[in-house]
Amino acid sequence: MRLTERSVDYLIYLELLKGYASGEEIARRLGISRTAVWKQIDKMRRYLSISSKPGVGYCIISERDPNPYAIAKASFENLEVSEVFYYKSVDSTNERARIHGKSSALFFAEQQTAGRGRMGREWKSETGGLYFSITFPSSALKEVQRFTVISGVAVARAVDGKLKWPNDVLLEDKKVCGILCELSGSFEEPVVIVGIGVNVRNKYENAASLCDYGICSINEVFARIAREFKNLKLKSWGEILEEYRKLCTTLGRKVRIYTPSGILEGIAEDVDENGALLVSGKTVLVGDCIHLRS
Ligand code: BTN
Repeated sequence: MRLTERSVDYLIYLELLKGYASGEEIARRLGISRTAVWKQIDKMRRYLSISSKPGVGYCIISERDPNPYAIAKASFENLEVSEVFYYKSVDSTNERARIHGKSSALFFAEQQTAGRGRMGREWKSETGGLYFSITFPSSALKEVQRFTVISGVAVARAVDGKLKWPNDVLLEDKKVCGILCELSGSFEEPVVIVGIGVNVRNKYENAASLCDYGICSINEVFARIAREFKNLKLKSWGEILEEYRKLCTTLGRKVRIYTPSGILEGIAEDVDENGALLVSGKTVLVGDCIHLRS
């Protein structure tokens, strides 16, 4: 399902959020027929429980968690995207974003059958988790690294978590969110794909789930993350890096890093201008980090 800010069902959703409205009233406001309103509302009932009182009109009683309309609303209000693709099940939202190839789009899935993690790993993606990818315009590889930092800070703020380099989000030292940033698109229009997976109601061994911390709504977690992306847009790169340093539990610790060119052990001293980790004087751009007991 694809939604834009001008999709009729999305516009009806916004009308219904205001309270009861008759089919005639909605039709008039949107400049469409009453039959069109009725047909759209019938379609929307897959995701929303909508009451229809004779003489009063339609009203949203409850919303499915997650649902495309709530996701689209948070996206359009905060993420500067122009289209939202919503899947009940898909291979991987990062893969959909890669095939789409254009920036300013959001890909959301209730579950993934081939969720991808960092360093070629699988990302388990059963229903109950939050899985989405955003495409941002990009000009250079440097921007992938910056989005790695920005998205980590956005999620950490949203769930009140900490970070493990480069951008695993932790709750009480257990991973609750993974982020995969990739560079894609064409030569003319390169895009950064930011793919985010959060355990909300789904539970895995040795991982944290937000529901254990009282946050069980996927719509809500998504909206919080979207708002934090918007908040971070107001900050300078220097301010974001400073916040990253404060949130990053890797700094000052003894670490082992598995990089594409070998294993490195040492003290994680700092992150540089681009979010690369400085380990005992050496700069590490990509890798898997393990915190060691010192
Ligand atoms: C990691 O290994 O920590 C990164 C995991 C990233 C998972 C997300 S879920 C949404 C998006 N689609 C994917 O296939 N992967 C990312």
